[in-house]
Amino acid sequence: AAERAELKAEIKALLKARDAVLVAHYYVDAELQDLAEETGGCVSDSLEMARFGRESKQQNLVVAGVRFMGETSKILNPEKRVFMPDLDATCSLDLGCPSDEFNAFCDQHPDRTVVVYANTSAAVKARADWMVTSSIALDIVGHLHAKGEKLIWAPDRHLGQYIQKQTGADMLLWQGSCLVHDEFKAEELKMLKAQHPGSMVLVHPESPADVVALADVVGSTTQLIKATQTSGVNTYIVATDNGILHKMRQFAPGKTLIEAPTSGNSATCKSCAHCPWMAMNGLKNLRDVLRTGFDTGVGEVHVDLALSTQAYRCIDRMLDFAK
Ligand code: 13P
Ligand code: SF4
Repeated sequence: AAERAELKAEIKALLKARDAVLVAHYYVDAELQDLAEETGGCVSDSLEMARFGRESKQQNLVVAGVRFMGETSKILNPEKRVFMPDLDATCSLDLGCPSDEFNAFCDQHPDRTVVVYANTSAAVKARADWMVTSSIALDIVGHLHAKGEKLIWAPDRHLGQYIQKQTGADMLLWQGSCLVHDEFKAEELKMLKAQHPGSMVLVHPESPADVVALADVVGSTTQLIKATQTSGVNTYIVATDNGILHKMRQFAPGKTLIEAPTSGNSATCKSCAHCPWMAMNGLKNLRDVLRTGFDTGVGEVHVDLALSTQAYRCIDRMLDFAK
């Protein structure tokens, strides 16, 4: 504990010395989330992370999350230096959508507007007309559908299917999935819900359709946290990465939070209810990147300039829409 307190104090001092701000996702370690808040940074969903990085006055950003979040920050802020505790922290959605295959898919359907989820590489975003995050996907697709546009959607098939159902849009879906949310199980969830009458089921839309069908609230991480604050219900069953429980406990003290069932338990299933890549962010590598990475360049996010200029358009379009 003393060692951890020392690490935290060192990180706080280094953030100041390096003129850096910490931007963290709700799925990273609770201590990192607290540090971000205590130092004037932010803890949020992907949309707000992108927004915050752009508006922050510090010259440097440290992104505690996964690779696409660091890349998005860099693309939006080419004049800032952007670092991550571990550049190998990726995402199964990003991995499942290689840009060459994606470009070939788009080439086959030139009449379709290309909408991609934030959880993609810069190269995939460079091909897209729009980027969306889970908190704004429904609004943007609804808007495009109302204009009569036909869409390509990539990479998450569950989120795509959910949006298609909600909006009625004509969407060709890439078949990617999140290895964490894919593990939530509808039958077991049904039984758990029956054991807790009056509970509310909160589901992230990267979950399979039969799990989403059991939800009382479907939404981004921020939207799910808000639901625990505003609904007046006492017990929640939560189908998303369990890193989110930290903020839910803070915002809704005294409420009962139950993790939704997965195909295994944490002993047998490494990625069940916790993203292995989000888990790569820790106090030590955060300290190291601040202490030495700023000088050696280790942990610094770089995005090819041509790709970055191209990818900027679809991200900026989303942020503009979200205003
Ligand atoms: P949010 O944008 O809802 O925070 O989701 C990001 C993510 O990676 C979920 O798995
Ligand atoms: Fe990607 Fe899933 Fe991890 Fe989110 S939880 S970063 S979608 S693998």
